[in-house]
Amino acid sequence: MINIITCVDLDFGIARDGEIPWHLPNDLRYFREKTEGSFVIMGSTTYESFGKPLPNRTNIVLSRKNNFDDEGVLTYSSIEPILILAKWVNVWIIGGEDIYSLFLPYAKKIYLTNILETFDCDKFFPVGNYLNEEFRIKSVTIGVIDDKNKHEHIFFEFERIVDGGCGHVSI
Ligand SMILES: NC(=O)c1ccc[n+]([C@@H]2O[C@H](COP(=O)([O-])OP(=O)(O)OC[C@H]3O[C@@H](n4cnc5c(N)ncnc54)[C@H](OP(=O)(O)O)[C@@H]3O)[C@@H](O)[C@H]2O)c1
Repeated sequence: MINIITCVDLDFGIARDGEIPWHLPNDLRYFREKTEGSFVIMGSTTYESFGKPLPNRTNIVLSRKNNFDDEGVLTYSSIEPILILAKWVNVWIIGGEDIYSLFLPYAKKIYLTNILETFDCDKFFPVGNYLNEEFRIKSVTIGVIDDKNKHEHIFFEFERIVDGGCGHVSI
């Protein structure tokens, strides 16, 4: 099954100048808990922003021009192998913008953390009409604010209700 996980600001921004412009440990923990032990799929820019593979996960990087041969990393130049893999196991699409766009039509679930501020981002989660028309909200959890988590945030879980038009809704 294909799951998307993302953290966005009020404009659905995900990054600015090649970095995530907020610090929210609650969301980092949520991300780790959801994805640990699974396959995480990312674009080469996102992988390079981490600088190393995410631990305790199989890291799959999409790239047309690079071959990342770090331990624990697989590189693919197209989405087809990932669509096949997703028929058998849970995969997590973790960004960035290009990669979210590629997989949105196939995604069964979207885990979206919404930070209730704007950060003047230059990369965005490609919302389109997908969220309204093809998904419904399954759960909403208000994030807890504390000394280390100063941004108001809400965890949304969406599930697909309408076929994405790619003939792959069952994955
Ligand atoms: N807020 C969040 O939840 C979140 C999540 C993830 C990432 N981010 C941020 O987003 C930024 C990166 O996002 P981005 O949109 O610039 O880049 P990206 O989606 O991570 O990676 C783009 C790269 O993916 C490869 N790619 C794209 N389409 C492909 C295809 N059809 N087949 C094979 N490879 C393909 C290309 O790599 P090559 O050029 O190597 O061919 C392309 O340059 C970073 O700043 C990161 O911190 C934020």
